[in-house]
Amino acid sequence: MVATMNKFSKDAPVIEVDGLNHFFGSGDSKTQALFDNKLKVRPGEIVIMTGPSGSGKTTLLTLIGTLRTVQSGSLKILGEELNGMSQAGLTAVRKKIGFIFQAHNLFGSLTAYQNVKMATELVGQKNKEVKPRIEQLLTRLGMGERIHYKPKSLSGGQKQRVAVARGLIHSPRIVLADEPTAALDEESGRAAVTLLREMADRDGCTVLIVTHDNRILDVADRIINMVAGRIKNDSDIHETEKICEFLQATEFFSDLTPRTLADVANNIEARVFEPGEAIVSQGDDGLEFFMINEGSVTVERTDVAGKTETLKQLDKGSYFGEVALIKNQPRNASVIAKTKTTCYVLDREEFRAVVDTSDSFESELRKALFERN
Ligand SMILES: Nc1ncnc2c1ncn2[C@@H]1O[C@H](COP(=O)(O)OP(=O)(O)OP(=O)(O)O)[C@@H](O)[C@H]1O
Ligand SMILES: [Mg+2]
Repeated sequence: MVATMNKFSKDAPVIEVDGLNHFFGSGDSKTQALFDNKLKVRPGEIVIMTGPSGSGKTTLLTLIGTLRTVQSGSLKILGEELNGMSQAGLTAVRKKIGFIFQAHNLFGSLTAYQNVKMATELVGQKNKEVKPRIEQLLTRLGMGERIHYKPKSLSGGQKQRVAVARGLIHSPRIVLADEPTAALDEESGRAAVTLLREMADRDGCTVLIVTHDNRILDVADRIINMVAGRIKNDSDIHETEKICEFLQATEFFSDLTPRTLADVANNIEARVFEPGEAIVSQGDDGLEFFMINEGSVTVERTDVAGKTETLKQLDKGSYFGEVALIKNQPRNASVIAKTKTTCYVLDREEFRAVVDTSDSFESELRKALFERN
């Protein structure tokens, strides 16, 4: 007999959410907390989730953690579908997950050490092997002096650090953390996220953190924004950084604060055009603004007699599309990709938002409008 191979491959998403809905209550009081969510998280990725209170962050986190039953849609953990899974299956999945929740629920009668040890017993790790690891982990989190204290003799932040250790001691494949650093000072918060970053880089551990703590955003590979039950913004930090660099190098974005710059970058879409492809067509409605990141384009205008004239060539760093956008007019020329071209694209609303926040952007635009008409 051939042993069943686990179909889960090393680079496959560790968390895969698709069309996920969630409801609370029933009958007239039934309310929907999550709407059609989609999310993929890969091995070794750290994803930070932010969003207003009541937007559904904890609901999503507890669904991923098998602490709630999936009602509608698909949720796969390590390649296994949780929707419809047996209790035994769910328990097995749960053992591969580490939880750091803010309501720490430590056992009052157990010491810090014993509380952490409980987590290893649940997954069947041996006493002898875990002792040095528990001591090391608690020390690393700045709890070396208080290993044998009970929760009642610990501060809120110290209890939270025990909860962090308890969530990580069994070397989980996935860590789910809900405001893990809220009760921590800068230094202990940093120690905790550095530990998570190491686990992600070294062991391919996947980490999902719900937080409002902007001191730890730099640890993330991606930031997700949850609004009213929907994942609204899923941005890759490294891509965002690249876009920020590009924007900063263009004169008209140079005076934006890093924060506005990051907001803009988050809302930009990178689009690739093949040689000969029309990026905008004369006569169309102008709904988007384009900046060339790679490649070159020609601007062409066709007159009433049907004669087409090439007006100019634009290259990396140039922009186009602003005239029609501002004047609410149809495109006055076509722009054709000459080579393979990558453009950063802003839609009308986002474009307006930038214009409103940037003086240099506005004066650049005025100049452009003046010159181009
Ligand atoms: N057990 C429950 N029964 C009924 N409604 C619930 C329950 N848990 C959450 N909700 C509702 O679902 C919505 C999402 O709640 P959730 O706890 O996921 O929000 P959150 O984003 O984690 O908020 P916070 O930042 O305040 O922790 C809210 O409207 C909340 O009132
Ligand atoms: Mg919450």
